[in-house]
Amino acid sequence: MRGVSEGKKFKLAVLGSGQGSNMVAIAEACRAGGMPGEVAIVLSDAAGAGILIRATERGIRAEFIPPGKFRTKLDKEAEQAYIAALQQAQVDLVVLAGFMRILHGDFLRAFPERVVNIHPALLPSFPGLEAWKQALDYGVKLTGCTVHFVDQGIDTGPILAQQTVPVLDDDTPATLHERIQQAERVLSRLGAHLPQLNEKTEEKSSLPRRTAPAIQSRA
Ligand code: GRF
Repeated sequence: MRGVSEGKKFKLAVLGSGQGSNMVAIAEACRAGGMPGEVAIVLSDAAGAGILIRATERGIRAEFIPPGKFRTKLDKEAEQAYIAALQQAQVDLVVLAGFMRILHGDFLRAFPERVVNIHPALLPSFPGLEAWKQALDYGVKLTGCTVHFVDQGIDTGPILAQQTVPVLDDDTPATLHERIQQAERVLSRLGAHLPQLNEKTEEKSSLPRRTAPAIQSRA
């Protein structure tokens, strides 16, 4: 994987399982100059997912890669297929935008500190699934979204940026999720986080790959 230095353009991959509104926000930000980069490839574990359709409509290479036999993670062969597609596309940064699978150590070792996730809550509160529903059930008055580097934990890793979102008295899971998604679409443009992204990717690109610490599988 290439190193990214200040002033260079990021070659981005976006992985998602859903409608792709965050991917569209990232692609639009790149096209409008708000993010110095391009979405080079979009991968999904869901055949016919909206994210693949929306990527194709924008002329972005989009591929469904079957996830294999598990429900919440990629199996070994699938993981290797994802790694191969991303390495072949020579991406600098992998963005998980609603990708509903836990990634293994092999994946993270292939892209050390080059994987970021968009999570619909103010981490470390409400990691895991349906974070907006968790927030509503708990009764917090403020939630939000987080962009963070992915490490071996579930929705852990250094935080790049957060945005707060109010919880209203008459919110349902659907209305709160929609408000959070609006904030996600702003936060996921990534351009505002370039100093941290550059710092991290520069740090890492100077490290010989083989000396990267072993990361335990999350499976
Ligand atoms: C977002 O709410 C994200 O935080 C969650 O899944 C949703 C993805 O939406 N994990 P989209 O596919 O980007 O529209």
